Amino acid sequence: MTKRKILVTSALPYANGSIHIGHLVEYIQTDIWVRFQKMRGHECYYVCADDAHGTPIMLRAQKQGISPEDMIAHFKTEHQSDFADFSIGFDNYYSTHSPETQHFSNLIYQGLKEKGHIERRVVRHFYDPVKEMFLPDRFIRGECPKCGAEDQYGDSCEVCSKTYNPTDLKNPVSAISGAKPIEKDSEHLFVNLSNFENLLQEWVGSGTLQPGVVHKLNEWFESGLQSWDISRDAPYFGFEIPDEPGKYFYVWLDAPVGYMASFKNLCDREGIDFDEFWGADSQAELYHFIGKDIIYFHTLFWPAMLAGGGFRKPTAVFVHGFLTVDGHKMSKTRGTFINARTYLNHLNPEYLRYYFAAKSSHGLEDADLNLDDFLHRVNADLVGKTVNIASRCAGFITKHFDGQLAAELPEMALYQQFIEDGKLIAEAYESRDYNKVVREIMALAAQANQYIDEHKPWLMVKQKDKAAELQAVCTQGLNLFRVIMGYLAPILPVMTEQVEAFLATPITWQPEPLLAHTINRFKPLMKRVEEKQIAAMIDASKESLATLSNSTPSLEQASETISYDDFSKVDLRIARIVKAEQVEGAKKLLQLTLDIGEEKPRTVFAGIKDAYTPEQLTGRLTVMVANLAPRKMRFGVSEGMVLAAGPGQNDLFILSPDEGAQAGMRVK
Ligand code: MSP
Ligand code: ZN
Repeated sequence: MTKRKILVTSALPYANGSIHIGHLVEYIQTDIWVRFQKMRGHECYYVCADDAHGTPIMLRAQKQGISPEDMIAHFKTEHQSDFADFSIGFDNYYSTHSPETQHFSNLIYQGLKEKGHIERRVVRHFYDPVKEMFLPDRFIRGECPKCGAEDQYGDSCEVCSKTYNPTDLKNPVSAISGAKPIEKDSEHLFVNLSNFENLLQEWVGSGTLQPGVVHKLNEWFESGLQSWDISRDAPYFGFEIPDEPGKYFYVWLDAPVGYMASFKNLCDREGIDFDEFWGADSQAELYHFIGKDIIYFHTLFWPAMLAGGGFRKPTAVFVHGFLTVDGHKMSKTRGTFINARTYLNHLNPEYLRYYFAAKSSHGLEDADLNLDDFLHRVNADLVGKTVNIASRCAGFITKHFDGQLAAELPEMALYQQFIEDGKLIAEAYESRDYNKVVREIMALAAQANQYIDEHKPWLMVKQKDKAAELQAVCTQGLNLFRVIMGYLAPILPVMTEQVEAFLATPITWQPEPLLAHTINRFKPLMKRVEEKQIAAMIDASKESLATLSNSTPSLEQASETISYDDFSKVDLRIARIVKAEQVEGAKKLLQLTLDIGEEKPRTVFAGIKDAYTPEQLTGRLTVMVANLAPRKMRFGVSEGMVLAAGPGQNDLFILSPDEGAQAGMRVK
């Protein structure tokens, strides 16, 4: 077998949010593939990084009152510990906010510029006169030009799905300051993508892309390749463009460069030859695993950038679909928007690795995590079928043969068939058809169990003259189990280690039989999933007061001081709770009607249902933020916020003014 050189990446998660189980579809899929390649003896590297630049990250940091550098450092640490706990085995995890990324971004840009692929054009965009910055589409809200729905994003309407330009919105406002945006001109830099049409067509035709991806690309070719705007004006968190003061690379320019940068960083640390993987005539294989939402960036922009910079193009881009939970998009109100950490607090990560593998095809279709199916599948396949093989044989070997396996296999042909089947399983792994991998392995597990059923070691143990046979049958069973674990190892790395300890031997792909060898006492390898663990995880994921405010608790504590001006912007008012009511379908919310001395009382939804009954609240005074931008919620519009102290749930205390205060008074 020739040893291949393979570099693999997963898309870089944004550095302003936590990893959730949707992300994990991709990282688990990639990690399984990489573990498979490494196990087969290839020189394979897996690199990733946080995607640290862009307007959302800059604004989020501002909102938290910390520097973007501090925020991205916080999320990098968090992401790395989430990934480690799911056994995602990166060879390097880096950040796009790094000298290597800047170096290669500049190099690629200079290359594009020298070859005449960069154009300048003045464009007119919405500008926030208060914040003094240009507004990305997602930061403009207004009424949909088609259906009139209120409070829609600047690029598309969530009600009627129409896509449009921000300037088409009626009554647009800046989502950052609430100000009415003005239109303003600015010179931008563009990559002329149509210059690369031939190169891209050729690359697409080279036959390594999935049919669904080729189809999309052909559509894009047909409608003509648009020039790509790669510059953004200050203020922007990113890299300033060489010789263009005040202009920054758009985050999607330096994001894929992060793949290179992370690998370069690894090369410098471990003495790997960078050019062997990225040079224009590289013979190494390069694969990017991505979700279907970012195909355009990876199959059009990225190959063009690589060509511009004098680098090789990817061997293939592997695209997967999106995750749904119980047939729906992940949802905070349903409790199915599950963060990696929340999952880890309740369930074994290997369950999810196995389930995702079982559900993963090599196409672009979405995959569904059906929670009932998850429970049954993991319990039946892993606990019931796989671990069971070992637990049915190990006890006899330990108890009656001092842990010693027999010197021969009674049924070499069966063992040989298990080894043979590895070929098919390897092919399925290679083509990322994990669903098939799992089906084949489970068929073997069923066969192994059947072998044990037929030979009934539990009866043999009662017959003195059957001792040798008992040892042989259990040796056969454990050897079949060991072959199966070799095939499952890329999916279940933690269980694999436990089995290595138990069998006192390494788990490898298609091993020679393990004979006349002493094994250790068997310990249960995996517990059954219980329904209450899943229920607790869903409950912990339900939208709570804390998540409603969209903040990261550990970041919140890092807030810096604010100026008196900032404080005086908050309109705090004494409010009388005229009415407090239950909200149908809401787990945590009460609907409050508040008198603050204005003509019309305010409606506020407050996450205080666990702490107060409506009766306890009606008639009393409290303090509210009266000038908080109205917030559309599932149950209606919330027109402010009442103030309460405490960790949340039933430990929450509404503020009250001293006696004598009246509804409508300003808090100063
Ligand atoms: N930062 C960009 C990628 C830059 S790559 C040079 C980005 N980040 S992301 O955090 O939004 O997504 C990271 C990866 O996770 C993407 O490939 C995306 O498709 C994938 N997923 C995010 N949510 C997902 C699901 N709900 N389901 C499956 N994959 C999902 O995009
Ligand atoms: Zn609309």
